Amino acid sequence: METEAMDTTSVATTAREHDVRLAALASECGTPLYVYNLTLIRARVLELKRMLDPVGGQLFFAVVANDRPEILRVLAEMGVGACVNSMPHLMLAHGVGIVSADTQFTATGITLQDMRRLQELKVRANLDSLSQLEAWLDLGATEAGIRLNAASLGGSRSADRLGIPASELPTAVSIAARVNARLTGVHVYLGTSFQSPEEMLPTLRRAVEVAAGLPSLSYVNIGGGIGVDYEHRGRRFNLSAFGDGLADCARFLSDRVGRPVDLVFEPGRALVAECATFVTTVTDVKELRGERFVGVDGSIAVFPRPLVHPESPHSIRWIGPTASDRSGPLLRTSIVGRSSFSGDILGVAQLPGDLRVGDLLAFDDAGAYLQSVASRFLGQPEPSTVFLR
Ligand SMILES: Cc1ncc(COP(=O)(O)O)c(C=O)c1O
Repeated sequence: METEAMDTTSVATTAREHDVRLAALASECGTPLYVYNLTLIRARVLELKRMLDPVGGQLFFAVVANDRPEILRVLAEMGVGACVNSMPHLMLAHGVGIVSADTQFTATGITLQDMRRLQELKVRANLDSLSQLEAWLDLGATEAGIRLNAASLGGSRSADRLGIPASELPTAVSIAARVNARLTGVHVYLGTSFQSPEEMLPTLRRAVEVAAGLPSLSYVNIGGGIGVDYEHRGRRFNLSAFGDGLADCARFLSDRVGRPVDLVFEPGRALVAECATFVTTVTDVKELRGERFVGVDGSIAVFPRPLVHPESPHSIRWIGPTASDRSGPLLRTSIVGRSSFSGDILGVAQLPGDLRVGDLLAFDDAGAYLQSVASRFLGQPEPSTVFLR
């Protein structure tokens, strides 16, 4: 079930009023339920654009983080471009009106068939290896982007499988020159879930120094990275300091290259994670070895982040039913999904000791890498989804 509802959230709305609203939506639409607040997404776009505006940077959204057309449409309306890594995601982006010029395709092992289609559609691609670059140019492209491996740029970054080492960049330039093509873009994926700009900027500065050596450079694309304070410890990523770092990079680039170079920034998590809540209903309460386990009508099949990223758990709280009171002492509780899989554990939280079947639990920051990662594993029904406008 998919529903649209009026957004009654405002700055003045208290946390409790918000939870009452979530509980009302849960009883109206059923659970498990994703509630997206499109107003918050708009506000987040403006915040990120404010950070990029001083450097004339372009904001793209990494569709892997959330592929809901309702969300992509809001982003498209606000002039956000798309970072896609598959043809279905490209079609979704185009379907909501994001044009090829505002789209970049960044992936590994792109098939020749996909390369042909991208060239027909005039979508820029950031190639992952020298052989992918050759294949792209053999098909007749006159320009290409290349991915730089972040770990090869030095520093303490752990090794990853993406892109070419910085030392191969001159070879990439000559591969392009051999067929009178130009290497116009550099993409660097810094990593994900960083809590501070200091964890990202040194690698980015190094990437920009290396990119500046490309004779035909016209853009640098920075893939993702900004993290979310999932556990609500009060540490928000400092966007203004990151913006200052980007401004330094942009200045360096235009000084070195002698003309403006476009900066593209393509966050996924940072744009949408905080804009949704997942609501699930308690279906069982039991004790085992003195520990409390609460079964819910959700599952890691439809709420998969805890399985993939147990190190950054979501904040979880009781939100209803609103007519009842659960003010007793809090108990450590494991929240488990309705399946046979022993790893179906959605999280651990301090929840009221008198929690009952029928109670509602809310998981915050549920907008990224959740619905887009959900799978058929465990045969769970599709959650209801509400978009607050
Ligand atoms: C190429 C690329 N860009 C951007 C992102 C978004 O990263 P994040 O969610 O950390 O912002 C991803 C995520 O996988 C990606 O693969």
